[in-house]
Amino acid sequence: MTDLMVLVGSVYGGSVEVAERVAEAVEAAGFSVEVNEAPTRADLAKSLVVLIVTSTTGSGELPETIQPLYEQLQEQPLGLSHLGYAVIALGDSSYDQTYCAGGLLLDEQLADLGAQALMPVLKIDALEHFQPAEGVSGWLDNWLGVLKKFSQKD
Ligand SMILES: Cc1cc2nc3c(=O)[nH]c(=O)nc-3n(C[C@H](O)[C@H](O)[C@H](O)COP(=O)(O)O)c2cc1C
Repeated sequence: MTDLMVLVGSVYGGSVEVAERVAEAVEAAGFSVEVNEAPTRADLAKSLVVLIVTSTTGSGELPETIQPLYEQLQEQPLGLSHLGYAVIALGDSSYDQTYCAGGLLLDEQLADLGAQALMPVLKIDALEHFQPAEGVSGWLDNWLGVLKKFSQKD
């Protein structure tokens, strides 16, 4: 079993860069990590901790690469009380009403299925960060601390 499963939803690759930045740091801290760019419901069983990194596209929609995960969980809900998770949502605050809606949708879905949010959703605004991976620096230290604590619990 992997220590951390990173499930990515991306259109233009920004979320992939963010996921890879996080994976590097998590691996350097001694954890095993898998980055999955085409996640499905079955992937949730491969780890006790999941990090979702997804952008928003269209008018508040999930990228096609991660939409199947959302739909599969809607169609066949899964009890996720064993699971700890966090969400990094890439978006653009000029999309006022649907800012980071994709990430927020998955956050709500996982919480509804009983998974435990280990951190508040991190929003990375394209208006603020030309390179989205820069938006993760401050968050990373906290995440490593949370991951250590959660992993020791088991
Ligand atoms: C066609 C299009 C639609 C978008 N719609 C939204 C949106 O509804 N809400 C939002 O917060 N960001 C929206 N964005 C901004 C992207 O989510 C943002 O640029 C993100 O960094 C892209 O990450 P990615 O490279 O992983 O796809 C949109 C971008 C494009 C090009």
